[in-house]
Amino acid sequence: MTKRKNILKIAIDSPAAAGAGTLAKAISKHYNLFYLDTGKIYRFIAYLKIKYPKKFNNKFIKSKIKTLKIKDLADSNLLSDEVGTEASIISKIKTLRKLVHSFQLNFAYNPPRKYNGSCLDGRDITYNIVPDADLKFYITANVKTRALRRYRELKRLKKKISYMEVLKSIKNRDKSDLNRKISPLKKTKDSLLINTTNLNKRACFLKIKKIIDRKINN
Ligand code: C5P
Repeated sequence: MTKRKNILKIAIDSPAAAGAGTLAKAISKHYNLFYLDTGKIYRFIAYLKIKYPKKFNNKFIKSKIKTLKIKDLADSNLLSDEVGTEASIISKIKTLRKLVHSFQLNFAYNPPRKYNGSCLDGRDITYNIVPDADLKFYITANVKTRALRRYRELKRLKKKISYMEVLKSIKNRDKSDLNRKISPLKKTKDSLLINTTNLNKRACFLKIKKIIDRKINN
């Protein structure tokens, strides 16, 4: 794989609905970085499983990943709670993670020339996908705050779901993502912890911007 030199690489890990995606998007825009929400890849595969249960095997997944475009990940069908839950189930499969590994590596290390670097968020980015990132963050918030944010997001999308259902599914997803054997969610020693429970989007952005600016100007 070709690797671009002298690019800025930012790696973010976080539990579900902690605000990492919103933050990563704002950071990427500000520093002109190529942004990838890696959870969307697992959601994309989970959606394939729901839509084509009979065809769902490694060969089928491989062919879909080969032709996967960034714009495919913007499909609003991927945002439902059902797809999120299925994503946390299929993401435990080792062979499946291997299939999406190179897609993520290429994205992180070889972003198009017009970008100054890359920013990826997920569960295993800081220690598995981009272990040599220039900056690493672990973004979290308490579970009730996360559930409320996700609930409001789903309501905006006109999805039929209650707050209690969202809370339950986020708790289940936390349990599964933190305790699985392969690539579990964890905060690495060299990741900076950002707790967004009591911070609005702007405050989160400014906090991270300060850290990145300090690193860049050093
Ligand atoms: O980030 P999001 O909530 O959309 O991710 C959906 C699921 O995909 C997560 O609950 C997790 O199980 C899985 N995932 C993963 N590794 C990543 C990103 C997401 O296993 N890097």
